[in-house]
Amino acid sequence: MHGFGMTTMRSERSSPRLTELTDVIRDRVRAGVDQAHTADLVKEALRPFLDVPGLLTEEQRRGDPERYLQHVLHVEPDASFSVVALVWLPGQQTPVHDHVAWCVTGVYQGAESEQHYRLCESERGPFLVPGELATNHAGETCGFAPPGDIHRVRNCGTGTAISLHVYGADIGELGTSVRRVYDLPVHE
Ligand SMILES: [Fe+2]
Repeated sequence: MHGFGMTTMRSERSSPRLTELTDVIRDRVRAGVDQAHTADLVKEALRPFLDVPGLLTEEQRRGDPERYLQHVLHVEPDASFSVVALVWLPGQQTPVHDHVAWCVTGVYQGAESEQHYRLCESERGPFLVPGELATNHAGETCGFAPPGDIHRVRNCGTGTAISLHVYGADIGELGTSVRRVYDLPVHE
């Protein structure tokens, strides 16, 4: 499936450690706290799995020279969360976007930059102003909840980057957790 500048693959097989991770996430999501707090709990749960060898199968670590690849690892049956692995070759990136729900990311391999933006209005129309630029390396996590989560993710390293993303949404139904893509001028 193509869309949002990426290709989506469905995974049929999970490693035992990946099943363990989805069990822990389920437990945190069922705590039933607000979106920002849920993102914090899931972030803590994800961190110890980022240096587990064999967490992903060889197929789930595969990239695509054309565009970054989304491997759907798990969609919770009650649609409360989804887990994907994104595989990026050097320089591959997302459009500027935001999400329909909370989102937690953790870098499994390589390095990713995350440029945040603020949406502003002028007489000529809407535009973006760059905000925080964060670089996350293997083992590092970040989490956020809408509103105000407009960002672009990019593989800023020299090798393949792999990151795990947990979305508080049903990726199986929506195909993506992206709410909107912002194709707007950027003013410093
Ligand atoms: Fe995102």
